[in-house]
Amino acid sequence: MRIKLTIQKFNPELDPEPYDRDYFVDVHPGMTLLNALLKIKSEVDGTLTFRASCRSAICGSCAMQINGTQKLACQVSLREEFSRHQKMVIGPMANMQPIKDLVVQMTPFWDKIKAVTPYITAVQAVPSRALQGLHKTLHHADGCIMCGACLSACATYDVSPTFLGPAALAKAYRFQADPREGDKDARLASLQKEGGIWDCVRCNFCVAVCPKEVAPMEQIIRLRRQSLDKHFPNAGASDTIGRRHITQFVRVVSDEGRLNETRLPLLMMWRTFYRLMRTLPLGAKMFLRGKTPWPFKKMPGHAPVRRIFKRFEKH
Ligand code: SF4
Ligand code: SF4
Ligand code: FES
Repeated sequence: MRIKLTIQKFNPELDPEPYDRDYFVDVHPGMTLLNALLKIKSEVDGTLTFRASCRSAICGSCAMQINGTQKLACQVSLREEFSRHQKMVIGPMANMQPIKDLVVQMTPFWDKIKAVTPYITAVQAVPSRALQGLHKTLHHADGCIMCGACLSACATYDVSPTFLGPAALAKAYRFQADPREGDKDARLASLQKEGGIWDCVRCNFCVAVCPKEVAPMEQIIRLRRQSLDKHFPNAGASDTIGRRHITQFVRVVSDEGRLNETRLPLLMMWRTFYRLMRTLPLGAKMFLRGKTPWPFKKMPGHAPVRRIFKRFEKH
């Protein structure tokens, strides 16, 4: 079986902008996309640039955009991926600055990891039995291989680059859940600010793309619960994009009986004009596909939904 791989090429020293180049590869049983990229590099185009090391989904260096989704090239079976999509389109991770071909700038990702203090700051002696069930308490947050796929897929980071992002927040949870950490409040307090845990809009993309089942969004929800349990003064109350998403989502559903995809972004972002402007291309695509309801029209039959909300508010 011979298949075509369309790969985005870009050398900032030579090319004014990225362009696509087609390569043809004979697929053998068990061949991964990374095998194919290495073959192309050694036999067809020595300039093709990508990161890879372990070839076993351990080092996290080969994450890229494959048919529109963030995946590890060493984990993708060429035959299966091609049968599913009938194409192989490969590019660098979205939301990140391309350096050359499939290599992206990872510095913002590392800066976010560093910002959550990813280590135990005040070691507290605990009896060894307290560590016996640790893997359960961490909920797999320690499985992260730092590939960056979740940050690349993150809906909040796409519009708000100051957001700490899924990997860093999952890492923060990993240390918040560790009984040896003696100063959990300082880290948790720092996560309440703009760009912290309340900015996540719970799109679930980070959970879907993570190759190691870290489920960052679920760790963020655990951090939110910890914040509420600790009665942080700003917990859930700071005026972040995440909080605006939650409150306006409830308001729209309560008013109209369903989610209004036109009104929600307007209510969330009218005070940050530049953010609203960044959603316009997406809004235009939704409009062309008939997915932008009139912002002020109530759905027929919304009254019973309104009554449910009223009853909730009462209690
Ligand atoms: S769930 Fe939250 S952290 Fe995860 S991708 Fe969506 S916005 Fe980002
Ligand atoms: S949380 Fe998952 S997707 Fe994100 S960097 Fe870690 S391993 Fe990669
Ligand atoms: S080469 Fe290490 S994760 Fe793919």
